Amino acid sequence: MNNDNSLLKETDPEIATVIDAERVRQGETLELIASENHVSGSVLEALGTVLTDKYAEGYPKKRWYRGCDNADSIEQIAIDRAKKLFGAEHANVQPHSGTSANIAVYMAALKPGQKIMGMDLAHGGHLSHGRSNNLSGTHYQAVHYCVREDTEMLDMDQVREQALKERPDILVCGASAYPRLVDFEAFGSIAKEVGCLMLSDIAHIAGLVVAGLHPDPVPHSDFVTTTNHKTLRGPRGGIILSKEKWAKQVDSAVFPGIQGGPLMHVIAAKAVSFAEAMHPAFKAYAQAILDNAKVLGEELMARGWRLVTGGTDNHLMLVDLRSRMPELTGHQAAIWLSDAHLVTNKNAIPFDPRSPFHGSGVRLGTPAITSRGLGTEHMKLIAGWFDEILTSEGDEKKIAEVRQATKELCAAHPVLNSSY
Ligand SMILES: Cc1ncc(COP(=O)(O)O)c(C=O)c1O
Repeated sequence: MNNDNSLLKETDPEIATVIDAERVRQGETLELIASENHVSGSVLEALGTVLTDKYAEGYPKKRWYRGCDNADSIEQIAIDRAKKLFGAEHANVQPHSGTSANIAVYMAALKPGQKIMGMDLAHGGHLSHGRSNNLSGTHYQAVHYCVREDTEMLDMDQVREQALKERPDILVCGASAYPRLVDFEAFGSIAKEVGCLMLSDIAHIAGLVVAGLHPDPVPHSDFVTTTNHKTLRGPRGGIILSKEKWAKQVDSAVFPGIQGGPLMHVIAAKAVSFAEAMHPAFKAYAQAILDNAKVLGEELMARGWRLVTGGTDNHLMLVDLRSRMPELTGHQAAIWLSDAHLVTNKNAIPFDPRSPFHGSGVRLGTPAITSRGLGTEHMKLIAGWFDEILTSEGDEKKIAEVRQATKELCAAHPVLNSSY
């Protein structure tokens, strides 16, 4: 990485030391958490700028404070790039996170108490799709659709039937842990039939969508939200895309509805990442994410690990640990793997009899390891290490041996924060 924190080392060594430790941790571990990535040096540089100093409540040319000319330019560039990248009529680039983007859409589109229908969290959905302990579930009525028990995939006939019965005011699609393609066209036609609005949350798959490697939600949706920091490889944060007719409501919901001043340094970094995602090389990067996921999944299955749905069409997979080690929980597996520098997260699998705290699965994703230049030839190694660590039941010698091998692979493929 290219940021040496030389000033911080002098002025605040306590924090500088921890940042350095995090840089070393990222450098020496394989990041297999599907929702994380390593940004480019250009994105990092934009984040660490004087733009953080500026209050710019409002929108370009309509600010509450003076001195916003540069903030206006930055935000307008980000908006224009987002609209171009996604082919959207309207873009709001201010949401501080993916959750904020979803909450703002509900505020723009619904009255409190109206009905959201989204994917069940336990089947791969997200908290902000109507979970009872999230604002989306406390201020709105929420009902959830599930995957089929036999295929573990969404059945659009079932979703349609449930939507016709429940009559939601907004149908939400998109997921945090669903390894298959989302049929946005089918969701769109269900929403039309029901006469409700449709929100597509592409937080995970945005990079694949803009690369043309996943079906596009924009033509079928009233609203599209995404995070910037997953497959899109931008800074942490969210954006909202919508049809022009919703522009005013969306903008008012973000500010003053749920946020105050925008984070201008983050908006600059979002703009940088949008330009990077328009670069022809981004498509090759997104294709490499998919190729790596496919091979990693196949190599795991060849070693007897069952993948939920039997495989993956995108950047992530859910490993059902019970298929090989019935007693092993996701919680324990993730600890052993991270001790060997393979960083993952425990995950419930659909119809999981275990509590989400323990879970029967782990979720693996390939965006970050692809950003550091790993290819399909390395996926066999990773699958082998995964298998050896878990089947050894976390044997300390085995973990030490794999940790050494992981560190060597990491050293050969450093996190360069390279641009395209
Ligand atoms: C589908 C989906 N939507 C929204 C979010 C929320 O993003 P954030 O953590 O930025 O609030 C996530 C994050 O994992 C997600 O997977």
